[in-house]
Amino acid sequence: MPPAPHPLSAPLLRREGREKVTGAARYAAEHTPPGCAYAWPVPAIVARGRITAVDTADALALPGVLAVLTHENAPRLAALEDPTLAVLQNDRVPHRGWYVALAVADSLETARAAAEAVRVAYDTAGYDVRLTAGHPGLYTPEEVNGGYPAVRERGDFDAAFAAAPVTVDATYTVPPLHNHPMEPHASTARWYDGHLTVHDTSQGSTRVRDDLAALFTLGKDEVTVVSEHVGGGFGCKGTPRPQVVLAAMAARFTGRPVKLVLPRRQMAAVVGHRAPTLQRVRLGAGTDGLITALAHEVATHTSTITEFTEQAAVPARIMYRSPHSRTTHRVVPLDIPTPSWMRAPGEAPGMYALESAVDELAVALGRDPVELRIRNEPETEPDSGRSFSSRHLTACLQAGAERFGWLPRDPRPALRREGDLLLGTGVAASTYPVYLAPATAEAHAAADGSYRIRINATDIGTGARTVLAQVAAAALGAPEDRVRIEIGDSDLPPAVLAGGSMGTGSWGWAVHKAATALVARLRAHQGPLPAQGIGTTADTGQETAAPSPYSRHAFGAQFAEVQVDTVTGEVRVRRLLGVFAAGRILNSRTARSQFIGGMTMGLGMALTEGSGLDPAFGDFTECDLASYHVPASADVPAVEAHWLDEDDPHLNPMGSKGIGEIGIVGTAAAVANAVWHATGVRLRDLPLTPDKVL
Ligand code: MOS
Repeated sequence: MPPAPHPLSAPLLRREGREKVTGAARYAAEHTPPGCAYAWPVPAIVARGRITAVDTADALALPGVLAVLTHENAPRLAALEDPTLAVLQNDRVPHRGWYVALAVADSLETARAAAEAVRVAYDTAGYDVRLTAGHPGLYTPEEVNGGYPAVRERGDFDAAFAAAPVTVDATYTVPPLHNHPMEPHASTARWYDGHLTVHDTSQGSTRVRDDLAALFTLGKDEVTVVSEHVGGGFGCKGTPRPQVVLAAMAARFTGRPVKLVLPRRQMAAVVGHRAPTLQRVRLGAGTDGLITALAHEVATHTSTITEFTEQAAVPARIMYRSPHSRTTHRVVPLDIPTPSWMRAPGEAPGMYALESAVDELAVALGRDPVELRIRNEPETEPDSGRSFSSRHLTACLQAGAERFGWLPRDPRPALRREGDLLLGTGVAASTYPVYLAPATAEAHAAADGSYRIRINATDIGTGARTVLAQVAAAALGAPEDRVRIEIGDSDLPPAVLAGGSMGTGSWGWAVHKAATALVARLRAHQGPLPAQGIGTTADTGQETAAPSPYSRHAFGAQFAEVQVDTVTGEVRVRRLLGVFAAGRILNSRTARSQFIGGMTMGLGMALTEGSGLDPAFGDFTECDLASYHVPASADVPAVEAHWLDEDDPHLNPMGSKGIGEIGIVGTAAAVANAVWHATGVRLRDLPLTPDKVL
C-alpha cells in the first residue's frame, strides 16, 4: 500500500461543508427552544443627549408583548472593561443608534411592532461626528490597537527629509468601513436552573462566556456559550456584542428563552467599524533609490465611550530600511459608534497609504516599483533591530512579477487604450504580524483506534475543524478521518478567538501538544486500552507567554491590472494576483480561500466600500448592503493566490503563520497604483468611485 499522504498541507474538504450547503448546519439564530420569545431593539435617534422619558404603554398594549426593557427596569449589570456592553444601564446616549430599549414578544413581528411603538424623549446636545486633520480634539494616545506605542522615532526624520534629493509628501484617506458578515449578529439565550446557555454568533465563545459571567455576576461554570457555526465575522464578532447581553437580559427578565437577531440596518452602529484614517506619508530617498527618511502620521477617530486607535502607522515600522523614521498616531473622540477590529486593523489602511507612497516614490525616482521595494528591504526589523524569523518579501515580489507578467512594462501612465478604456498595472506589498495566544486542548484515544480532540476553537467559515484534524493526525501519526474534532462550545477547554490571524496557530499548538503527549502515553501503555480509552490535556500558556527574540511577520506581494472607463469613470479590476510567504500552509484548499477572500475584500476597499458619517444626523448613511457596496461576483475577476513554501522554525510546531488577514493587505494600494498607471491621475481618497475618477 502506498503511504497515506502527509495530512499537513493536503487540500482536504471542509468537514462541515455538506452540512452547510444542505442547510443542516445550525447557526445561532436557528436554535429555537420551546417557548422561545423574540426581541427587537430600539436605537437612539439622536446623536448625543440624555433620555428624559420612555413611554412604553402603547408597546405593552400590543397583544403578545412580554416586556419592554429600558434603562429604568432592565437587570443591572456589573461594570466591564468593554463599556459598549453596558446596555440599558443609564440615560446617556453617546451616539445615534445606541440602544435605548428592547421589546420582547411572542413573535418577531410583534416584537418589531412593539419596538416601533416605544416613545423616547431626549434632551439633546450638540454633537460632532467629523474627523478632520486639524481637529482640536486630536491627541496622542498612550498606545494603539494591538498594544503598540503610538509614537516611534528613529534618527532625525526632519533633517533627513529636508536633505533628501527625491521626496514624496502625500496624504491618503480611508473612510469608515464596515465588516458586514453574511450572518448578522444573533443570539438565543435561555436560563435554566440558574444556568445561562446562549447560542451566539461569535469568533470566540470563551470570551463571551467570561464576559457574560462577569456582567451577570455568575461563575464561569454557570454560563455556556455555543458558537458551532459562524457566518463570517472579520473582527466584528471578535468580542461580545450588545445583542448577546440583551438576549440574556431579556431571557432573565421574562423567564422565557429569547432570540435576538440584529437587523442589518442596525449593525453599523453597534458592532464596530474600521475607523477612518487620514494618513500623511513622507518619503525621502537618494537618487540611488535608497529610502533615507520615512514618516507615517495617522489621524483617526474613536467614540466618547472608549478609546480604540486604528494602528495604521505600525506596519511602516517593519517594512523598509530607513535610518530616519517617524510613525505617529493621533485620535479624537467623537459622538459616534465605537470603532473596532476589521480584517487586518492597522495593516489594511496603513499599507494602503504606505504602498501608495512607495509607488509615488518609484515614479519620482524613475524606478520600477518592484525593484525599488527589493532595494529597500531591511536586513533586520527597522524598529527593533531584531532578526526576522523569516522574511521572503523579495521572493514574493519576484515570483509574483513572474507569474503576473509584470515585465516588460512601460512605466509611463495613460498610454494603454482599448476604445474608451485605459489600462494599467500596479503592485504593492503585504504584511501581517504573527500573533499566538494560549489555548488548552484535550486529546483522547478510544479503544477502537479512533481519536477525539476537544478545544474551544471557532470555525468562522475558515475550515477550523478540518485543519485541526490535520494537525492532530500529523502529531498522532493517524489517518485524519480517525480524528473527531469538537469545537465551538465554551464548555470545551478554553481557547483564543478566531481573530488576529492567530486561531489556527494558537489552537494547533495546543492540539499538537496534547496529541504528542497522548502518543507518549500510548507508547508507554502496556496491553489493550481500557474501555474508557486514554486522554491527555495540554495548554500552551508557557510557550505562548515567552517573548520571541524574533520579529515575526508574514509577507506578500499583490499585483493588479485595471481598466478605467474614460466615459463613465468606472474602474474595474481585470486581474488580481497575490504571492504570500506565511510559513507552512496547513491546508492548501482552505488557505487559498482565505487569501482570495481577503484580496476580494481589498478590492471592495479600493473601489466600492465606504460608510459616511452624516453630519446632519450623526449616523452612518450606508447601513445596508444596498448602499454599502461589497464586491459581488461580477465585480471579482480572476483572483489568483499563490504561496512560497516557507520553513520557519521560530513559530509553532506546525511552522505556520496566520493567513486570515494578509490577503486584504496591499490589495487596495495595488489597485490604486494600477489606476494611476492607467490614467496618470493619482487618487488618494478611497474608494475610487466614478465621481472621483472623472
Ligand atoms: Mo480579525 S479583524 O483579527 O477578527
